[in-house]
Amino acid sequence: MNLSGYKSLHGLPPLAGLSSVERAAQSNWSVQQSVDRLKRLHFVLKELCTTLTARITSEPIYELKTAFSHHAYLCAEQVNLIRTRVGEMREPPLGLDKVPHAGLKRLCDELMTVPTTEGLLAGCYEIALPAVVAACRRLQQDAHPLADAPTVRIAKLIAFELGELVEFGQQAIPCLLTESTRQQLQPWLTRLEECLACAGDLDGLAPQTDLLPEPWHSAEPFVYDSEPKRDDRFQDPFNAGVNPEAFLYDERFSARDKTLMMYYKRIRELDVPEMMASILVDLRDEEPWEFYMEMIRQLWDEARHAMMGEVGFAAQNLDWTRIPINFTWSRNLNSQLDARERHGVLFFIEQGLMPRTGKRYEWEVGVESGDPLSALFQDFDWADEVLHAQIGRRWYVPRYQSLGQALSYGDRCWSKVLSQWQKYRNEGWTEHRNWWPELYRQACENWGQPPDPAALAFCETYEDSRADLQKLD
Ligand SMILES: [Fe+2]
Ligand SMILES: [Fe+2]
Repeated sequence: MNLSGYKSLHGLPPLAGLSSVERAAQSNWSVQQSVDRLKRLHFVLKELCTTLTARITSEPIYELKTAFSHHAYLCAEQVNLIRTRVGEMREPPLGLDKVPHAGLKRLCDELMTVPTTEGLLAGCYEIALPAVVAACRRLQQDAHPLADAPTVRIAKLIAFELGELVEFGQQAIPCLLTESTRQQLQPWLTRLEECLACAGDLDGLAPQTDLLPEPWHSAEPFVYDSEPKRDDRFQDPFNAGVNPEAFLYDERFSARDKTLMMYYKRIRELDVPEMMASILVDLRDEEPWEFYMEMIRQLWDEARHAMMGEVGFAAQNLDWTRIPINFTWSRNLNSQLDARERHGVLFFIEQGLMPRTGKRYEWEVGVESGDPLSALFQDFDWADEVLHAQIGRRWYVPRYQSLGQALSYGDRCWSKVLSQWQKYRNEGWTEHRNWWPELYRQACENWGQPPDPAALAFCETYEDSRADLQKLD
């Protein structure tokens, strides 16, 4: 086909900048091909999202726990893009729950069940995600640039966004994988490659083989570990010797001093992803994709809130690893309540953050404090929590007869959770040391200001109250 005589006006880029006319005159593409490739991508990305989510709770390393939260969310965003596009291509019923190829299923099952963090990192970030990115780049090239422009667009976006995950893996893996661990992993990694080869690569473009590798780790079903784990920097995690809410709502104390308690409250939110992940794992077959999507967004927001606390302390030159970052909320909820009850507690708490004394108050304290970073973080924390309350109203409240019933169910579930404050002390899990004076003194020294004696003497604990200052029976 010779289109060399075809000219756009003034030599302007033709076809709205999508491609050359020569390329657009090629006719080697169809809706079916586009949908087939998207469905393969959809399957693997949804599985990766589930796999990373299922690791958040039990992964001890904070940097990985938060990264898995981020990456699970990003995989979900791509799944959403693909679902929308497939739905535009004469595909109701979408057929998105069908397994596109046994090799891809085996690959994903192996990633889900691999017992070690090192295996998970190498399998996801060195094999599965690069295969996804490469398949998206091929799709970007192969899809018809004019007729299938919406697919080209999402292929480009997915390759761009997930390319960052591959880069994360390239940086993270050398930090954790020794040469001998890699050697031990190699036979399994080879098996993952064979799964892809069997499927004709992720998008099925390569010749498919009949050699479906035998299951290795996935010979046993996946068992979710709901017990939150933390790395060695998290000292004394059962400590509930300081009640930051009591400090925050005490009018005697200055806004500046309160920013420290707010940074603590933020970093302590690490237990929200640990808990929310358990809801997503337990309800994965009971709720529609849209539920999963919104909840994983919220989960990621909570991980960000924790990191805002980390940055807040770092910016104040305060060592957060000297402060006990309590994890008993996620630990108790995960072990004492079922998924619906945990969702109830989450909704009840988030709804309670909305009145004037909640997130707006924290932002006002940040603004008044003279610490602009605190104001900035609370500003966005507030915005995020408004979103979370809406997510709860969409996905939790409709299960109950009224908002009031939904709230009181959550309240009851929370009261059911034993804080075990005394037990932890009696059994030697923690002394509930009052860590506040040490932190506060150090902050005052950094600020070059004398401590407020009343603030320094603060010693309220969680012994007989919940985080919303409700007295425990
Ligand atoms: Fe939060
Ligand atoms: Fe939230």
